[in-house]
Amino acid sequence: MGFKELIAQVEELKLFTPGPTYVRRDLMVEAARMPNFSHRDVEIVKRFKPVYANLRKMAEVDDSYHVILIPGSGSSAMETSITSLIGDDEKVLSVSIGSFGDMYHGMTVANKKNSEKLSFEPGQGIDLNVLEDKLKEMERNGEKPSAVTFTHNETSTGVEVDVAAVSGVIKRFGALPLVDAVSAFGATHTGIQGNVAMYSTATQKCLALDAGFGIAFVSDEAVERAKYLVQNGKCSPPSILNLVNHAKNAGSFMTGTTPNCTLINALYLQTDYIVNEEGVKERYARHRALRDMTHDWIDGLGNGFQLFADKEVASKKDKVDPAQLSFSIA
Ligand SMILES: Cc1ncc(COP(=O)(O)O)c(C=O)c1O
Repeated sequence: MGFKELIAQVEELKLFTPGPTYVRRDLMVEAARMPNFSHRDVEIVKRFKPVYANLRKMAEVDDSYHVILIPGSGSSAMETSITSLIGDDEKVLSVSIGSFGDMYHGMTVANKKNSEKLSFEPGQGIDLNVLEDKLKEMERNGEKPSAVTFTHNETSTGVEVDVAAVSGVIKRFGALPLVDAVSAFGATHTGIQGNVAMYSTATQKCLALDAGFGIAFVSDEAVERAKYLVQNGKCSPPSILNLVNHAKNAGSFMTGTTPNCTLINALYLQTDYIVNEEGVKERYARHRALRDMTHDWIDGLGNGFQLFADKEVASKKDKVDPAQLSFSIA
């Protein structure tokens, strides 16, 4: 089959998966229309400055957080948090409410960290009392973790957790909260500011763009800690998953390795659209309204159909790219 026939067949193809999500055709065309450029010249800086500023507004964080774009995907940012923020002789606890919580834990094991997992039943959220008891027990046993991983929105079960509340418990025990927000960022308030050490996400879910970057919001304190660990030989991250290197490049509005320039153009356009046309608060409210619509629809299905997740914790994220819906929600 030739390329033209292939295009004709898929012209109307729309994704209704949790991610990758449908990307607006006009946005893709516009992004690809611009000539490509080198990631080591001023063109990337021109694009990254407004992109960082817009991402910061979406994340609701101030300058005490670094915005870091890592070529790859959400996993690249998540794994960077493991390789760079946990010393070889330190303990890490992974809280899992589903497949992606398990995946984060798997990264700690693959990187030979001293890891432990606390799991909750699929469809449930994180019970703060159970988490607190677990941390107390670890403390009693002299196994206090230096970091705790958890998932903002568990894509496999449709459960969202309260990032600020969970981080609050973790911080009371002196550990760094490391958050996988791959399917949350862009749809809902983050709860990062003053709470989270590193919050990892990606371009292909609620930002409604193609895959190609892991995006991380990292506190100053966490970047300093990554430097300390490396400088004192307490961990040796691989160079392409080294937070210190990524933070250094991000500080000059660049990436450590060669990025996808068309995706940078698309990020420029999409983050500008979200912040300056749609509005961040409005976008988050729209997702919440769509969540409610989806729940109502499921409730009305009958025949034994019901939401898998416990209603109390069912996520704000819906499965359709809402930017494509032809109605607005007041
Ligand atoms: C919650 C969550 N975490 C991590 C990932 C993995 O992200 P990526 O495919 O961008 O590496 C996904 C992908 O679906 C996800 O939904």
